[in-house]
Amino acid sequence: AKLNTLAKAASKLYFGTATDNPELTDTGYTAILDDNTQFGQITPANSMKWDAIEPEQGVFTFTEGDQIADLAMTNAMLLRGHNCVWYNQLPSWVSDGTFTVAQLTSVIQNHCSTLVGHYKGQVYAWDVVNEPFNDDGTWRTDVFFNTLGTSYPQIALEAASQADPNAKLYINEYNIEFAGPKATALLSLVESLKSAGVPLDGVGFQCHFIVGEVSGSGLQTQLSTFAAQGVEVALTELDIRMTLPETPALLAQQKTDYNSVITACMSVESCVGITVWDWTDKYSWVPSTFSGQGAACPWDENFVKKPAFDGIAAALSA
Ligand code: G3I
Repeated sequence: AKLNTLAKAASKLYFGTATDNPELTDTGYTAILDDNTQFGQITPANSMKWDAIEPEQGVFTFTEGDQIADLAMTNAMLLRGHNCVWYNQLPSWVSDGTFTVAQLTSVIQNHCSTLVGHYKGQVYAWDVVNEPFNDDGTWRTDVFFNTLGTSYPQIALEAASQADPNAKLYINEYNIEFAGPKATALLSLVESLKSAGVPLDGVGFQCHFIVGEVSGSGLQTQLSTFAAQGVEVALTELDIRMTLPETPALLAQQKTDYNSVITACMSVESCVGITVWDWTDKYSWVPSTFSGQGAACPWDENFVKKPAFDGIAAALSA
């Protein structure tokens, strides 16, 4: 079974994965990555972020982003752009800058339109705004909110829309996969942007989960609730981590959890696709961020499929 083939047969647009430039020198890795029957979509994990793209004001460096975009084109894969405006991996000229409202507005407009315009026609969807809220539903007090208040998503979305009118424009967030203050806050932002006619096409559910703590039915409810606002939805950064060492019981639970997450997307027509946040444990972001945790991906670090793979395949073909 190949995951993208199964997803497309079930009327989804893609099953895809994150990837990152340093991994592309690993021929064992690329031998599996390059198979578009397995992965019909890729997302650059780092190389289109602000610190990579515009490290100094007005100086744009697209080399690494281009490498990922070229790979998508060579392999006939969809590309998700990630991302335009985010509090993290922001160069200090932005995060520490003292900008007036007018100055920061033009900084955002210039960054978004140059980035999105550079890849015009090559990107299926852009994460235009990434992670705007705290878990308690308040806005993150980053340079964007502190200077511009709640208006900055509109500024970024409008600039992106002008630069590539055919790309789907998303807000991407985590901890909205279950009911709670963060999901409520984002839902009301989506409602107000849609009713103001701001170009917003989608909401990305990151889906960084923990084995044994996954509610597929809760996720399905949230996907449907957001879709009812007239946006498409997608699972954009799926992985399901565990406390190491991995055991047969944890791997079996992980298979169940992957299955129920994929089933949630399959059950919601507006859920267009699924992206894992890299397919192999060898290149997962988890161990370096959460000490003692890992094994979050459907292939192990030796590129051997785990039970999770079968859980995904079963849900895609159900
Ligand atoms: O680029 C430097 C390099 O110069 C340096 O030598 C090296 C030494 O540690 O660090 C490199 O930067 C690292 C960067 O990845 C590129 O490899 C950072 O330390 C590291 O923190 C960074 O991690 C990324 C993380 O975002 C940062 O927040 C992960 O790879 C990436 O997978 C992760 O992705 C995020 C999504 O963008 C948004 N949602 C959450 C998700 C997981 O955190």
